[in-house]
Amino acid sequence: MTLKKTVLSAVQPSNQIHIGNYLGAIKNWVPYQEHYDCVFFAVDLHSITVRQDPEALRENTYHAIATYMACGIDPKKALLFVQSHVPEHAELAWILTCHANMGELSRMTQFKDKSQKHGTQIPIGLFTYPLLMAADILLYQTHLVPVGEDQKQHLELTRDLAERMNNAYPSKDASNDNSKDDSSRPLFVVPEPMISKAGGRIMSLQDPESKMSKSDPNPAGCVFLNDSDKEIEKKFKRAVTDSGTEVSAETQAPGVRNLLEIQACLLEEPYDAVLGRYVGKGYGYLKVDTANVAVEKLKPIREKTAEILKDRAQLEQILAEGREAARARAEKLLNEVYKRIGFVRR
Ligand code: TRP
Repeated sequence: MTLKKTVLSAVQPSNQIHIGNYLGAIKNWVPYQEHYDCVFFAVDLHSITVRQDPEALRENTYHAIATYMACGIDPKKALLFVQSHVPEHAELAWILTCHANMGELSRMTQFKDKSQKHGTQIPIGLFTYPLLMAADILLYQTHLVPVGEDQKQHLELTRDLAERMNNAYPSKDASNDNSKDDSSRPLFVVPEPMISKAGGRIMSLQDPESKMSKSDPNPAGCVFLNDSDKEIEKKFKRAVTDSGTEVSAETQAPGVRNLLEIQACLLEEPYDAVLGRYVGKGYGYLKVDTANVAVEKLKPIREKTAEILKDRAQLEQILAEGREAARARAEKLLNEVYKRIGFVRR
């Protein structure tokens, strides 16, 4: 057993990864690998809550793992795998399904938003989605989950479920909590959210009041890590700023602030340092420079991703090793859950 705290996060391989995902999440995780026990994976089981094109899902899953690696996630340091390769996720999700209630799931704002698009034919997976996410987290005795605003409510539900299960299935011998034996500990670690300092809110380049998203109604609002130099340039040059002409030291419109923030994250400089360079300069300069910085910083990631994807055999090998390590760990916890619930030993 490791003494480091466990940090866990995951990405849906339903599309390609964009700079909002990169600057707000993946880039911040890279240094975690030195201080934490890290678990990162691609959640393909979550992706199928809405219909996916099978070939695109498969390619996007490889792509997500390759992108993680190209961004600096090292499979030798972190546990890196594909969710569906570890059947314990789906198994624990079922157990949690039997301990959750309709009311608490109905309150999830993401469900309310997403289910609206489906009229009367709401897929049940959209409703139970947070239970699969809770299973992801609880299966690895996770202490910390780097989450954005949009996932906080799901993490809160995960905490409630962990506490409910811990109370329903207490340890055999509470006086012996220091023991290494799993049966003498609370069933689950109750996870905490982890707020990262940088890049939390990268906004759409076309609608800087909303978060950058792969489903931006205007495709020019979202810069994918896989975009060509030309596409990156075009998107930044067309970025929405405001009706003014030059950058002011006192207040920055959301679109201007977003460009400065993107540069600051890419260059790993404080926001104010970047701002200082543009005060009094026209928005045109800011757009061109931000485009150039993005092209320069994203190119090595794009090339590395392509290189990793090219060697499929090697990538499959990495996934196989990730799967084995993840399963060994997940199985141990699930066995303890099954034992406390009263299932006959398998
Ligand atoms: N629901 C998350 C999202 O859409 C993805 C996710 C699935 C996740 N399982 C997770 C995130 C576990 C953190 C931890 O972004």
